[in-house]
Amino acid sequence: TASDKGTYPYYMLKEIDEQPNVMRKLSAKYLDQVGQPVITPALVEKLRDSDRIYIVGAGTSYHAGLVGKAQLEKLTGIPTEVHVASEFAYETPLLSEKPFFIFLSQSGETADSRQVLVNVNQKHLPSLTITNVANSTLSRESDFTLLLEAGPEISVASTKAYTAQIALEAILAKAVGEAKGVAAAQTFDLKGQLAVVAQGMQSIVDEKNEIDQIAQDYFVQANQAFYIGRGIDYTVSLEAALKLKEISYVHAEGFASGELKHGTIALIEPGTPVIGIITQAGTAGLTRSNLEETAARGAQTLSIVRQGLARPDDTFVIPDVDELLTPLLSVIPAQLLAYYTSLNKGLNVDLPRNLAKSVTVE
Ligand code: AGP
Repeated sequence: TASDKGTYPYYMLKEIDEQPNVMRKLSAKYLDQVGQPVITPALVEKLRDSDRIYIVGAGTSYHAGLVGKAQLEKLTGIPTEVHVASEFAYETPLLSEKPFFIFLSQSGETADSRQVLVNVNQKHLPSLTITNVANSTLSRESDFTLLLEAGPEISVASTKAYTAQIALEAILAKAVGEAKGVAAAQTFDLKGQLAVVAQGMQSIVDEKNEIDQIAQDYFVQANQAFYIGRGIDYTVSLEAALKLKEISYVHAEGFASGELKHGTIALIEPGTPVIGIITQAGTAGLTRSNLEETAARGAQTLSIVRQGLARPDDTFVIPDVDELLTPLLSVIPAQLLAYYTSLNKGLNVDLPRNLAKSVTVE
């Protein structure tokens, strides 16, 4: 069955491996033969007519929202804010005249996000929930729902829900952008790109042994690690660090690579792993110099780089894909690094200490 571990030692590895298939399922469900989005017209209209989009989520879902902001702004032209649910609930920011709320939640049950939705409903503002669980509380209480179709996610560490959320946000952004007549949305071959993503994911998950070895060489003994990047790569560095923290207990942080020199670089010690995520042409050179600055202070530098920007000594080279979709690929080596670090430390990968799959208290 879908919730069976099969021959996998842990659900997390199974769920990482399922990602190429989740991409194909989302593409088949939400994009038609010619690549046009298949999204309820009433939802597209509400979004098209809004003057600002507010994305709300927690943890990994919040990180998926950060990627969604980049996609929505580029493809629809609508200013988009992303908020941590637990902050938004009690410190509501000033709202625009015609706000639209998007709740991101794998489980659809996260209490922090539910509290925000309660407030949104009291104000009679329109909302969409993007979730993996049909009929979950967030789904029932918001005006619209889009399902992730990722299949049950059992491991506490979220993997396939993150990539499914990002793919679905891109589809939604294309639908709304087309309704607004935005050229970037009209010319975006999302169906073709998602096929490239699915293949690319497969090629990365097929390189497990190499990633296992890197985990053993650099992460199992580490007491801290840093992911760095700029723009969309910075948002992935936050997610990559969260994965490492929650299942391998290595203290990890994601940083905007330009911010390192403003303080964080003091933490770099000989051998500290620093992983640069480099997928955006406009900032690749800058992130590379920031990575070199950490190497000069003794860091063990590694890199996750998009093919077109790669150099011979890069650690992980991911296939080329549209720059709005690179998180779908750059996160995979990071998920696997976290997995193998946890596994090689002899930890319970699926059930890290102190954590629950769904956080139903505020
Ligand atoms: C992810 O690895 C975490 N376990 C956690 O941050 C999770 O994403 C968060 O609790 C939100 O859950 P949700 O998507 O079900 O709302």
